[in-house]
Amino acid sequence: MKLLRAPGAVWGLALVLWQLGPAARAMDPITMGIALAGTASALTGLISLPRLYCYFAECCLERPPPQVGRDLKDNLGKKVFGQHLVSEVIVKAVTGFLANPNPKKPLALSLHGWTGTGKNFVSKIVAESLYDEGLKSRYVHQFVSTLHFPHQQNISHYKDQLQTWIRGNVSACGRSIFIFDEMDKMHAGLIDSIKPFLEYYEEIDGISYRKAIFIFLSNAGAERITEVALDYWKRGKK
Ligand SMILES: Nc1ncnc2c1ncn2[C@@H]1O[C@H](COP(=O)(O)OP(=O)(O)O)[C@@H](O)[C@H]1O
Ligand SMILES: *[C@@H]1O[C@H](CO)[C@@H](O)[C@H](O)[C@H]1NC(C)=O
Ligand SMILES: *[C@@H]1O[C@H](CO)[C@@H](O)[C@H](O)[C@H]1NC(C)=O
Repeated sequence: MKLLRAPGAVWGLALVLWQLGPAARAMDPITMGIALAGTASALTGLISLPRLYCYFAECCLERPPPQVGRDLKDNLGKKVFGQHLVSEVIVKAVTGFLANPNPKKPLALSLHGWTGTGKNFVSKIVAESLYDEGLKSRYVHQFVSTLHFPHQQNISHYKDQLQTWIRGNVSACGRSIFIFDEMDKMHAGLIDSIKPFLEYYEEIDGISYRKAIFIFLSNAGAERITEVALDYWKRGKK
């Protein structure tokens, strides 16, 4: 794996933890039930029996936090090389967050690093520790800036769309995971449209986002390249 030059020195990691402290009020514990039950009353019986419901479909209900923590620690330790500190911090952040029944904010993890340092790889492991189907889980949503939001002129459309998606998905499952890749290439306006979801609001229009997990990936290389290009451009103009 030639990309892993100096172990431990590969990543600059900025990890932002949004509030793990003791909580004010709980998020509505039956958000999921309500969202699903709205569609067909015949389902209500099933949904009130989580086990049975989960038997038929992948379930938004969390795996027990200690189990998530163990799996996460194991898998990060076994599969990810040269990132001990990063792994440790992520395990702590995620397990602390899951163990808190009333978080005041969603968990936001921000990973910076050069291309190929394993940012997506780590996100995948985090997703798999919560949901067996990992990135394919219906509760895990991945957005790649250049793929999902490529056109500058459609930014306001993307904003609406993204907010609708986040709202819809969190109302279906409070413990949704959103992964944003290529944050460095994301339009500032679009980043702004995500921000309200990361704040301390108890709820927005009746939906609480406090149990959701947001993972932001940005490419250190691209940042540098953009900076250099900008510098060059500025100097050239003068
Ligand atoms: N620290 C690491 N430990 C183990 N494998 C890694 C590591 N960094 C990268 N890889 C491997 O390289 C591949 C590409 O990494 P990726 O997560 O896509 O990088 P990034 O998202 O940072 O651009 C991964 O699928 C993984 O197999
Ligand atoms: C961008 O927006 C314009 C007008 O709002 C629309 O016609 C076009 O199809 C959109 N393009 C994409 C790729 O969404
Ligand atoms: C959830 O997000 C996906 C994109 O990952 C989107 O296609 C889907 O419509 C969203 N669901 C809801 C209910 O908004």
